[in-house]
Amino acid sequence: MGICVGITSGKGGVGKSSISIGLGSVLARKGYRVCLVDMDLGLKNLDIMMGLENRVFYDMIDVAQGKCSLNQALVKSKNEENLWLIPVSKSVTLNRLNEEIILNILDELKTKFDYILLDTAAGIESGFTYATHLADRFIVVTTLDQTSLQDADRIIGLLMKENAQKIQCIVNRMNPQYISKGISLKLMNALEWLSVECIGVVYEDEQIMKGYNHGHPSVSNEHSKASECFESIVRAFEGEEVILPKYHKSLLKRLFSS
Ligand SMILES: Nc1ncnc2c1ncn2[C@@H]1O[C@H](COP(=O)(O)OP(=O)(O)OP(=O)(O)O)[C@@H](O)[C@H]1O
Ligand SMILES: [Mg+2]
Repeated sequence: MGICVGITSGKGGVGKSSISIGLGSVLARKGYRVCLVDMDLGLKNLDIMMGLENRVFYDMIDVAQGKCSLNQALVKSKNEENLWLIPVSKSVTLNRLNEEIILNILDELKTKFDYILLDTAAGIESGFTYATHLADRFIVVTTLDQTSLQDADRIIGLLMKENAQKIQCIVNRMNPQYISKGISLKLMNALEWLSVECIGVVYEDEQIMKGYNHGHPSVSNEHSKASECFESIVRAFEGEEVILPKYHKSLLKRLFSS
């Protein structure tokens, strides 16, 4: 049976969708069958970031209403053999009935995939509250900004209140220059505060933003800095000790010259 992972955050825009694609791509490259679920109701996110916007015709609600089969609604990644995408719903609201239907479809997905990654909406909106009932484990994404960490802490508290079994975090957009100048918080201070296991960091990298803006994730290049970060994250996700990827001179040069 597949494992359902909720990828969430307190603050919006901190990188949930980027992390979902990165984690999903590297897990898929390792041979796991991975399905990304876009939980952002009514908004198009993952399909555009993966360059799949012209291939998404159906969503989970269509499957439930018999408009298509589950296989028809699943869209295959252009870059990874074992990576698939399905949106929950193109409409903006989900009623109780739909929630039950989606639970059933997720159960079916668990028989087809090793990992189902739920890219949730930020904060305590319906998408998040809903995902707490669905996922087996959670990854809270945060940056080292005070507001992002405050909101991440709040979400971790809410997940604990809901008796979430396993909560880990990923720090995204880490910029050593910002840390040394005191612009953002220090990683260790942030992790002490959140007090959940950190499975890795993703550095601030313009190639990551460029890749998603062009529908060609930089993680799909095995030799990219993003891949290096996500390979380390996947090892930690699977229970190995976290080793932060080395901060390459070329990347430092790029950051410092900007
Ligand atoms: N490590 C990174 N380096 C540089 N840019 C990044 C990084 N991670 C994410 N971004 C950029 O930040 C923006 C927001 O990322 P993303 O869409 O993944 O956030 P999100 O948490 O899913 O947002 P939302 O809450 O709206 O769903 C995107 O333009 C993305 O390319
Ligand atoms: Mg998103």
